[in-house]
Amino acid sequence: MREAFLPFSPPAIGEEEIQAATEALRSGWLTLGPRVREFENAFSELVRAEAALAVSSCTAALHLALVALGIQPGDEVVTTPFTFAATANVIEHVGARPVFADVEADTLNLDPSAVERVITPRTRAILPVHFAGHPVEMERFQDLAGKHGLELVFDAAHALAAEYRGHPIGSEKHFTAFSFYATKNLTTGEGGMLTGDEARIARARPLALHGMNRDAWRRYHQGGAWFYEIESPGFKYNLTDPQAAMGLVQLRKLESFQKRRDAVSLAYDRAFGECPALEPMKAREGIRHARHLYPLRLRPEYLSIGRDQFVEELGRRRIGASVHFIPLHLHPFYRDRYGFQPEDFPQADGAYRRILSLPLHPGLSDTDVGDVIDAVLDIVRQHGA
Ligand SMILES: Cc1ncc(COP(=O)(O)O)c(C=O)c1O
Repeated sequence: MREAFLPFSPPAIGEEEIQAATEALRSGWLTLGPRVREFENAFSELVRAEAALAVSSCTAALHLALVALGIQPGDEVVTTPFTFAATANVIEHVGARPVFADVEADTLNLDPSAVERVITPRTRAILPVHFAGHPVEMERFQDLAGKHGLELVFDAAHALAAEYRGHPIGSEKHFTAFSFYATKNLTTGEGGMLTGDEARIARARPLALHGMNRDAWRRYHQGGAWFYEIESPGFKYNLTDPQAAMGLVQLRKLESFQKRRDAVSLAYDRAFGECPALEPMKAREGIRHARHLYPLRLRPEYLSIGRDQFVEELGRRRIGASVHFIPLHLHPFYRDRYGFQPEDFPQADGAYRRILSLPLHPGLSDTDVGDVIDAVLDIVRQHGA
């Protein structure tokens, strides 16, 4: 057994990020400034977005998107229950109603057919999540949006570097929200990016900084003017220059990070593919998976222990693991507010009962990967039904 505990998802931060953040701190400009703009430009180039707005989190990006689209009380936004709370919380924040539709059995992504069944005259937008980094069926959602006159807002917290039929996630005219939280494929500690066409980002940009018509950098640098006007009651959602400095370094490393994520995922797939008690997720044709998470479903009929105990057994073998996600309709707030039963979303509920996530990050050595594989197979051997 390993001596040291293997953490589930530590950030991959090197000396280069530390140096870049230090330079930003020494520059005398601590908040939104030239490095943020540089990061936005480099990011839009990478994902081939028309425009990008750097913000303080993916949650902020999603919230801004809904506000910029004018979504308000009385409106409905269709989304997945198989996600992190932020995805639906922001719908509540604008006073609209999150309407859940079930997920596909293979990808655990929002099922376009289930979405179509819950569209009503009050529906304003669909908010799909690229779960674990596997892109949703973009064309089906674009068709649905066109047919019903709806907006799309994509939650790409897991999907930086993912592609759908050759198009990078984030290259859409519709809003896409990315996360740079500490565990994500690219991190700035906390942070996020909202992409979309020029018109959508132009609407969101002032909302990220109090609704001001001129940002601080443009007001305070040489030649800037002190005058500004508030055009709407916006939020304080900007990224800062030291964070952007880290982000610029991480962007340069992203491809090598992705290569490692691909290799680790492939090693897990190979090791678990033949084991009847384990069901690795399969990627569909025509996509590039961002490999943010490695979710593994257990087949309970081959095991004498459940998922919770499986995660405990991994911990006993010094392997960090997690569960993505506790479906939102099971959380007290959503359950009680909308009167949900677990079986209302059978795919999401069924997946939750038997899923866990294994360590997947660029810092894993071949020995670490071998240790994870050995631990999983050992648990299956010891607790087979
Ligand atoms: C699917 C999903 N959406 C949104 C978020 C929120 O991201 P952030 O922490 O950057 O606000 C997360 C965070 O883990 C997530 O997993």
